Amino acid sequence: MTERFPMDPYPSSWYAVTFSDEVPRGEVKRVNFLGREVVVFRTQSGAAAVFEAYCPHLGAHLGRGGTVVGEDLRCPMHGFRFNVAGECTGAGACRGKAPGATAGVLPVREVDGVIFSWHGADQQPRSWEPPPLAEPEWRTTARRTVIVRTHPQDLGENLFDEAHLIAVHGYSDSTMERPRAEGHVICGSSRFKTGFDLGPFKRRNEASVSTQLHGLGIFFTDLHTQPGDLKFRTVFMPTPIEPGVLELRVSIWIKQVDQELAALPLIRRLPKRTLEWLMARILLLTIKHDMEQDQRVLDHRRHLPQPGLAASDGPIAAYRRWARQFYPQATNA
Ligand code: FES
Ligand SMILES: [Fe+2]
Repeated sequence: MTERFPMDPYPSSWYAVTFSDEVPRGEVKRVNFLGREVVVFRTQSGAAAVFEAYCPHLGAHLGRGGTVVGEDLRCPMHGFRFNVAGECTGAGACRGKAPGATAGVLPVREVDGVIFSWHGADQQPRSWEPPPLAEPEWRTTARRTVIVRTHPQDLGENLFDEAHLIAVHGYSDSTMERPRAEGHVICGSSRFKTGFDLGPFKRRNEASVSTQLHGLGIFFTDLHTQPGDLKFRTVFMPTPIEPGVLELRVSIWIKQVDQELAALPLIRRLPKRTLEWLMARILLLTIKHDMEQDQRVLDHRRHLPQPGLAASDGPIAAYRRWARQFYPQATNA
């Protein structure tokens, strides 16, 4: 809890630890994750694992000089080796086995280029899996990582806040459906008009967005604009690194290129992959602009457990009811 956020800073969820390609085979990396450093490594066969940072033998930091040896992580201090299950497979310089030396292992799933770890608030057990982030034919074409000073629940709430679309982003004619919650997933949809800023191709567009949240660590927004018939998915992966601070990873998957843009004489000759790459970068700039607008508010906002909601804020109340499940002991989220 902090002054701004009266709820557990780390609700139950799968959270992104790192993008996959940031940990090649044989590499060890330190990552900030839920109030501490953890160690991510990839074995020579390609398996990824996430460990608590400190060696269970005598407490050396495994991310400070630890090395991958075959399928194991080797501690820099006495050379104990641990497999991805955390089991000690060799006691290095010490004679005999060390049965009590088991590394702290975080549950890991690697999905579509991202390594996720589960966190259960109050030891809440895993009851669901991280979803695929994309269809097999989509490719991730742009991404960024940014620090946002908020709570994962409040970041998600922004996606169900219809009024801010107009006041913060300057969209118009917005309508938002009531969210549909089912277990750990909540879906929403909205429509609005926006000056869609594709760099040199500025124009008024109508957009429809489907939002899908899987817990409080994996958010999808699927956007479809008209005219242009552009379809893409933005994946937002907020990972709390300390109370009230998120490391937010964002990736963009193009599903269908903008037909009008693709028809322009100069662009028509580009290979499809190049065009997707180009478009994703332009979209990323647009999203960056929107995120900066959001951050001016979110970075300083306080979470009010009893907000003075207006009638049109219905989706927010429904979202908060859904989010309660990620705080097993809580009453005030
Ligand atoms: S502290 Fe890691 S092997 Fe001794
Ligand atoms: Fe926003």
